[in-house]
Amino acid sequence: MPTQSIETPDDIVIEISNVWKIFGDKADEALHAIREDGLSKSQVLDTYNAVVGVADVSLSVKRGEIFCVMGLSGSGKSTLVRHLNRLLEPTSGKIMIDGTDVMALNPKELQKFRNLKIGMVFQNFALLPHRSVLDNVAMPLEIRSMNKNERIRLATKMLKTVELGAWGNKYAHELSGGMQQRVGLARALAADPEVLLMDEPFSALDPLIRRQLQDEFIKLSAVMKKTTLFITHDLDEAVRIGDRIAIMRDGRIIQTGTAEDIVMNPADDYVADFVAGISRLKIVRAHAVMQPLSEYQVSNGLPPQDAPRVQEDESLSQLIRLAIDVEMPIIVHRNGVDIGVVTRRDILQVVVEGTEVS
Ligand SMILES: Nc1ncnc2c1ncn2[C@@H]1O[C@H](COP(=O)(O)OP(=O)(O)OP(=O)(O)O)[C@@H](O)[C@H]1O
Ligand SMILES: [Mg+2]
Repeated sequence: MPTQSIETPDDIVIEISNVWKIFGDKADEALHAIREDGLSKSQVLDTYNAVVGVADVSLSVKRGEIFCVMGLSGSGKSTLVRHLNRLLEPTSGKIMIDGTDVMALNPKELQKFRNLKIGMVFQNFALLPHRSVLDNVAMPLEIRSMNKNERIRLATKMLKTVELGAWGNKYAHELSGGMQQRVGLARALAADPEVLLMDEPFSALDPLIRRQLQDEFIKLSAVMKKTTLFITHDLDEAVRIGDRIAIMRDGRIIQTGTAEDIVMNPADDYVADFVAGISRLKIVRAHAVMQPLSEYQVSNGLPPQDAPRVQEDESLSQLIRLAIDVEMPIIVHRNGVDIGVVTRRDILQVVVEGTEVS
């Protein structure tokens, strides 16, 4: 691969640093004015006839992590993801993928980088309708000039992985939307890329199929461990799929964290409104509900010796089940050391906070 490798910590695969993308002829002037005078997105449009697509975004994705970027339509998600394989050039900022400075690649290196390092899945399937399903999956391997037998072997294996083993000889347009999206995923994975970019891959599908594909993707990811940037406008989807989530608004990231971080400590009213409808039962863990052991002891003394004990990452739903069965506080431990206590009051408090939607 290219020679411009610059050292990044081993476990960070995608590193986006202060990326700005402003569309328009006066993008540089507009960026200057934003930095100097703090112009808003609408002021930039009025004054410079320029559109702020991405505003000062920084994020890093660890090896094997699924990182979700969530935001409403027009918030800049697609613009951001298109920078990673340099379909767009930033107005300012830097993007490193697996030690490669993406902006520093020459055209030949860029082509190689896209073929070898990146797999992409879009919302609108983007399959070639008059090629067989198998040929669609094998396409990235063909681009790599892999010999025919080998690429058919790999593509067949990948189709089996997405449970479409029997469909290889059909034309892509003969498949349903959900099946086509699985073919798209198989195609992205066939070349065994380092990084998977997914821009609203399931958004066009009806809710039931969508949920099914989310589950399949979660299972597949657990096996393949691909570093994934997953774009969605659906917070439920982000919560189900993402190890971490960044919330975008008007081109900016306004909060990054685990689902639990975001649900328990929304950065502002905008995020709070979003998370209000999200069930806390599977997201919130014992360590976020508990009182520290020392605090509990001050007013209650030691918890009973035979009280139930859970790990600090036990889910709220499991805590509720325990509290139904046993009339005792629940002890929370980390690596065998008691660190906190969860009472029924603590549980009820968290549940009621999560259901008080304004
Ligand atoms: N090629 C372009 N030229 C001018 N403006 C653009 C261009 N591409 C995107 N934009 C603008 O950048 C902003 C972000 O658009 P983007 O497509 O990234 O949003 P998105 O979050 O992906 O939305 P959606 O959920 O609808 O896909 C919008 O204001 C859009 O109008
Ligand atoms: Mg988009």
